[in-house]
Amino acid sequence: MRTIIYYQKKMLFEPYTLKGIRLPNRIVRSATYEKGADAHGFVTPGLIERYEALAKGGVGLIITGGAPVHTTGVFVPQMVAAYDDKYIDGLSGLAGGVHAAGGRLVLQIAHGGRQCYPELLNGALPIAPSAVHEPVLNITPREITEDEIWTMIRAFGDAARRAKAAGFDGVQIHGAHGYLVSQFLSSHTNRRTDGWGGDEDRRFRFLKEVYNAIRQQVGGDYLVLIKMNSSDHLCCGGLRPDESLRIAQRLEALGIDAMEVSGGMYESSLRPARTKILHPQDEAYFKNASALFKMSLNIPVIVVGGIRSRAVAEEMLQQGYADLISMSRPLIREPDLPNKFKAGKDKADCESCNACMNFRRLDTVKCVVLQKLKDQGRLH
Ligand SMILES: Cc1cc2nc3c(=O)[nH]c(=O)nc-3n(C[C@H](O)[C@H](O)[C@H](O)COP(=O)(O)O)c2cc1C
Repeated sequence: MRTIIYYQKKMLFEPYTLKGIRLPNRIVRSATYEKGADAHGFVTPGLIERYEALAKGGVGLIITGGAPVHTTGVFVPQMVAAYDDKYIDGLSGLAGGVHAAGGRLVLQIAHGGRQCYPELLNGALPIAPSAVHEPVLNITPREITEDEIWTMIRAFGDAARRAKAAGFDGVQIHGAHGYLVSQFLSSHTNRRTDGWGGDEDRRFRFLKEVYNAIRQQVGGDYLVLIKMNSSDHLCCGGLRPDESLRIAQRLEALGIDAMEVSGGMYESSLRPARTKILHPQDEAYFKNASALFKMSLNIPVIVVGGIRSRAVAEEMLQQGYADLISMSRPLIREPDLPNKFKAGKDKADCESCNACMNFRRLDTVKCVVLQKLKDQGRLH
């Protein structure tokens, strides 16, 4: 009897070309807000150092934390801002630092919509497609006017222009997690009855115009990605996987370059950054949605959410769940995790406790567990 041994090619450290940009491996740093800009949204030397560490640590493609495209869209303190030309110099320093360290950098452009703390908006009410109460922040936003809608669309285009001028390799539209773009897509947060809400077509219109405004500013050759919810994970209403996939197909037809698959919003039962990732089967919790996207689209698909071990990362690629894998929390703890995986490390040290997300108490986003170990003199 003959024994057939199947050999599956290792893919995690295979190079990958994304819109002409050569990535040395398939590891993406998913957008991660660091509370690392100064109080006015300017890039700081400390932030540049953090990004250089990711580049030197072997991350194939780094996506910045969400950068607000408009002053009405700032959702957490000390975000890197992209809403004025005065930020281009600082952004250029960030892109230059990453490139000098051998990395590639994408600016995530975002607007918080109803998920903005009013104290960051000088006390003004957040804007949203509809005045639907947000239970986590306990605020009811103001419905955005038609004129303001066009202002926000232009703001996304202008932010993309600034990213390109600053030397970034591309932009990612933050279309996930219940922020403004995601709010327009979702039947839960978009209750409009005009040309911007109602059926799927009209709920997609804002994103379509945002995408067109970006392309108008940066041209067809520039890398434009999107992070999208595969589902809003709400008990009643909201985006579901079938609808999300149809939106992804529309974006593909328009010319989007890649899709990162996530899910959930502030008020969802299942949120984007989940805890209790104890076993390999808890990892990659958006893998089924990602597989659905991968099967139905021709553009590259990036899976994010709970990837902690090298084996699961490999499995995502080898078994066709995604073309690239993306991580956030593990890289807060270990910016050089890709190099460690390459050297044979099996699993990230991140405990997925989410203490790093306690933005309001922390001076900057960091791994609180690691900090405690250092404070106790158990690590250096
Ligand atoms: C501190 C922190 C900040 C984050 N900031 C952003 C952000 O600016 N934009 C975004 O799309 N996702 C953001 N996320 C979500 C992550 O990109 C990612 O989708 C999520 O954490 C799941 O991936 P993980 O299990 O590898 O952490 C953030 C997550 C954390 C922990």
